[in-house]
Amino acid sequence: MKALITGASSGIGADMARVLSNEGIDLILVARRKGKLEKLAKELETNVQVIEMDISSTYNCMKLYNKVKKEDIDILINNAGFGLCDNFSDIKIDKELDMIDLNIKAVQTLTKLFLKDFKKKDQGYILNVASLAGFMPGPLMATYYATKAYVLNLSMAIYEELKKEESNVSISVLCPGPVDTEFNKVAKVNFAVKGLNSLEVAKYAINKMFKEKLIIIPSFKMKIIPFIIRFIPRKLLLKITYKIQMKKK
Ligand SMILES: NC(=O)c1ccc[n+]([C@@H]2O[C@H](COP(=O)([O-])OP(=O)(O)OC[C@H]3O[C@@H](n4cnc5c(N)ncnc54)[C@H](OP(=O)(O)O)[C@@H]3O)[C@@H](O)[C@H]2O)c1
Repeated sequence: MKALITGASSGIGADMARVLSNEGIDLILVARRKGKLEKLAKELETNVQVIEMDISSTYNCMKLYNKVKKEDIDILINNAGFGLCDNFSDIKIDKELDMIDLNIKAVQTLTKLFLKDFKKKDQGYILNVASLAGFMPGPLMATYYATKAYVLNLSMAIYEELKKEESNVSISVLCPGPVDTEFNKVAKVNFAVKGLNSLEVAKYAINKMFKEKLIIIPSFKMKIIPFIIRFIPRKLLLKITYKIQMKKK
């Protein structure tokens, strides 16, 4: 089997590469920091191809697809993403649009291109990395939360289409709470609670992906959050999330 992982140079993506390689799966690792990808590739036992690419451009996503489409990929993991934390009006629009390009448009483009191939051969796994943030609005990280809601809802809708078509292609969406990675450094935040270990999250996610689970939420404490928030009035939920986000700043 062969998997393509975006955002594999650090954090959850790098650990997913470790987990998949341990299971004997060949890899195509994508990110901007080639040095980090090459270092990771040396650590791994299976065949690894490294692709240095900024996938926040749709043109580059197409280029990436065209480069690897003959590789008979079985697993696509759309993991690359980042967050920004501040008042909506204070975040620079270009940074925010870059985030939308990466967190939404790259996922949209790669999912569509690979899904078509997977459907043709009636096999394959897609794992989109959203977040627990996708289940609620996130004042002070408004756009990030909204991008993850997009990925969550898109993935769920595709899941149902595949079920109705009786397809053997599987789509899952990973929705972790805080995970200890470079995410904080990039978003310039500190988590209000201790983050989960990224390798543990990766192991859990890959295991559930192979079991074709739709929504994957690591840790029991985090799993109950989407359930609980259904019963919280929206305005109260906004106040709670604002308070949590404020602690991160
Ligand atoms: N950490 C958390 O608490 C948490 C919680 C929920 C969801 N998530 C999600 O998990 C995913 C992985 O994040 P992480 O926590 O592992 O953070 P991370 O350590 O910062 O990893 C992000 C990865 O995305 C890559 N990336 C960023 N911009 C890119 C671009 N323009 N083109 C290609 N690759 C790019 C980075 O590589 P380069 O810089 O080398 O390009 C890096 O490999 C993200 O989608 C994030 O939103 C994280």
